Amino acid sequence: MEFEFVEKKELKEKPKENLGFGKYFTDYMFVMDYTEDKGWHNKKIIPYGDITVNPSTMVLHYAQETFEGLKAYKGKDGKIYLFRPYMNAKRFKNSNERMCMPEVSEELFVDSIKELVKVEKDWIPEGEGESLYIRPFMFADEESLGVHVAKSYKFLVILSPVGAYYPEGVNPIKIYVEDEYVRASVGGTGFVKCGGNYAASLIGQKKAEKLGYTQVLWLDGIHRKYVEEVGSMNAMFLIDDTVVTAPIEGTVLPGVTRDSIMTLLKDFGYKVEEKHMHIDELMKAGREGRLKEAFGTGTAAVISPIGELYYKGEEVIVNDFKTGELTQKLYDTLTGIQWATKDDKYKWREEV
Ligand code: COI
Repeated sequence: MEFEFVEKKELKEKPKENLGFGKYFTDYMFVMDYTEDKGWHNKKIIPYGDITVNPSTMVLHYAQETFEGLKAYKGKDGKIYLFRPYMNAKRFKNSNERMCMPEVSEELFVDSIKELVKVEKDWIPEGEGESLYIRPFMFADEESLGVHVAKSYKFLVILSPVGAYYPEGVNPIKIYVEDEYVRASVGGTGFVKCGGNYAASLIGQKKAEKLGYTQVLWLDGIHRKYVEEVGSMNAMFLIDDTVVTAPIEGTVLPGVTRDSIMTLLKDFGYKVEEKHMHIDELMKAGREGRLKEAFGTGTAAVISPIGELYYKGEEVIVNDFKTGELTQKLYDTLTGIQWATKDDKYKWREEV
């Protein structure tokens, strides 16, 4: 890929500890522009910094915005890896199609990330559980107030050295099951990684936090009965000897980690069922002690154990609020592949 490199005079000091999630940003970012006549052009790696937009810029009004999330890892073999970046590229393509935004080819998507990560390789943190979070995103930058599909866009990639997503680290989190608000419905944008989905979910998140819970478990948009996903990750439940998760039918985000974990689970000999599970069935399994483990999966969250579910006044504690054996094994296997301490039998690592 041809691009212009605009060098920065003075580099930032890199944070040493307490990285948290999305608090620090590297020295450079990738940018490119789209217009109908030129397609994607003006590809550059430039110093990370503010971008100015006109007040009439369409994304500020009508929210044509999509994004992705993936990570770069410093492998124990000294190489730099991405994890299944072509899956993110495909999902980005699907998101953009739904939002009437232009396609970024899979090659261009992955190349822009690789070039930026190469420039910023010294920013990949090497502490336990740390990685370089990659946030590619696109937005409509046409200046107009008419409601229509925008004619011009910007695509950027920014990088952030991160540790654990939740303040709990890899310890169990408490989940609030939302029964009033809705995150997505069939025919909408639930499967799309667009800012609007997250904006609409904040009210549930706010409510959960106020009640002392870390995250929201969303139910389906029609009956408000069937378990879908958690705001920042897909959710899985080990009930008896079967792992249950919601199917990908338009309302749930098709997670790269979700897909990877389902592959690992089948390999470990577990039954995996993608089904519309009624919330009463889940709570009953919890009451009867048949809900052995519960966890969320996501790029940012990795594998996050769920220690408690709260629904309509009832609390169910999962596995004595401890990280389960299966959850731990999945975490160790997945991160082992990501940090190259384990064999990559599925060919998920992509060297930068
Ligand atoms: C991710 O896991 O990459 C996400 O995008 C979730 C959240 C941080 C928005």
